[in-house]
Amino acid sequence: MNLTRLKPYLPSLFFVLALCVLVLSLWRPHAGHHRMEEGDFPNEYVPAVTWPLGYFEVAPEIENVWIDNVPARVENGRVWVDNLTIGWHQLKVRRGDSIEDRGRALYVTPFGPDNFFWVFVTDVHIARFGKYLREVAENGFKLINEIGPAFVFCGGDVTDYALDSEYEGFLKCRKSLELPLYMIPGNHETYIDPDLDHWSEMFGPTDYSVKFGDALFVAANVLGPYRSWGGATREDLEWIDNQLSRDGKIKFFLNHLPVVYSQTTIYTIFPLINRGEYNTCVCRGTEELLEILRRENAISVFGHWHVFDEPFVYENLLFFHVPSLTPNSKGGLIRWLLGGGMMAGGYGFYIFRVENWKLTYAHPIDIRKLEIVREKASDSVVVVRIRNDHPYPVPLNLKFDFRCGASIDGKPVSCVTYGQVSWVRFDAPSGLTTLTVRRI
Ligand SMILES: [Fe+2]
Repeated sequence: MNLTRLKPYLPSLFFVLALCVLVLSLWRPHAGHHRMEEGDFPNEYVPAVTWPLGYFEVAPEIENVWIDNVPARVENGRVWVDNLTIGWHQLKVRRGDSIEDRGRALYVTPFGPDNFFWVFVTDVHIARFGKYLREVAENGFKLINEIGPAFVFCGGDVTDYALDSEYEGFLKCRKSLELPLYMIPGNHETYIDPDLDHWSEMFGPTDYSVKFGDALFVAANVLGPYRSWGGATREDLEWIDNQLSRDGKIKFFLNHLPVVYSQTTIYTIFPLINRGEYNTCVCRGTEELLEILRRENAISVFGHWHVFDEPFVYENLLFFHVPSLTPNSKGGLIRWLLGGGMMAGGYGFYIFRVENWKLTYAHPIDIRKLEIVREKASDSVVVVRIRNDHPYPVPLNLKFDFRCGASIDGKPVSCVTYGQVSWVRFDAPSGLTTLTVRRI
């Protein structure tokens, strides 16, 4: 049968399908939650990130902490880190009578909390069916690792249908990332796993908060089941309210679905989504959620729509839509119907920099527009060639497994050294840059 002949009837079919999704989502409106208890932090899924001579916070019930089997100083809920090497460390904690092995649950970053950058990557869409651009996902994670942020959040939709083979593909792709990767589920993950039980077995809690110094990150799940639209229940709002009320000088609210966005998609025919001044994918509890974000002046970061990357300001609140990492999922029927475009996207992630508790940099990075190539010039010199085709600089924190100094056109560049490892830290300007790194 020639499917093209059916095309005139597809808008009606699509409308009926959308109504079915609406009815389904009203019948069973919310995906399951696996909320992290305060005392369960940190753990291998939600690790603590700290800095040399820094600290991380734990719940009052945690009385003792061992880092790499050495007792750590715990004072007023803060665990102090002395003389640890940069990288991963093992944690044990005592809670009441039991000692719990938390595994690889602590990461020491070479950044201080007063000036650091972090990455939000989303919508990796490892696909079982259709075109599977695994190298795009792999290159994306390799590039993020090379850029060297303090930590990374992954905003969900790592699969198309939450199939085991897709998760396996994702786990392989993310292997090249040595940094902490905090996972958030997406609506595609609820297709066949509406309670997110399977997701949680692999990635831990679906809702949690973490702090880096005085920067607070609240990751929440406001998804609907079976890939339907999202919404926040009274219980969700209470949890988000509690978490965003934690102390913090800058606060981020992270989830998969756009809370507020400006772009028009075909779904904006539905008043649940189209609220006049903005569109939303968090269709219930929207005003209450906005009220909490307003009160805490929280910056929202999310993915879902794949294509657009412009920040949106609504009532003085900042909303960042992060484009998808891969163009794997192209929206199938919708794309065919509308002639493409809406769901293609791909090749992107976002870098956010926080300086003295202010957001000072927020830009999308297109992995095709940034290339970092290292060449060994001699035993003591490495030349790094950087091509940045973005119209703005890109922050870099390049790691070298030796003590080094660095320069660009003879001018010295900032270098941070701990032990025998150095990080060259600078903003790569637009165009071509040649960085010379010398062993010292
Ligand atoms: Fe997606």
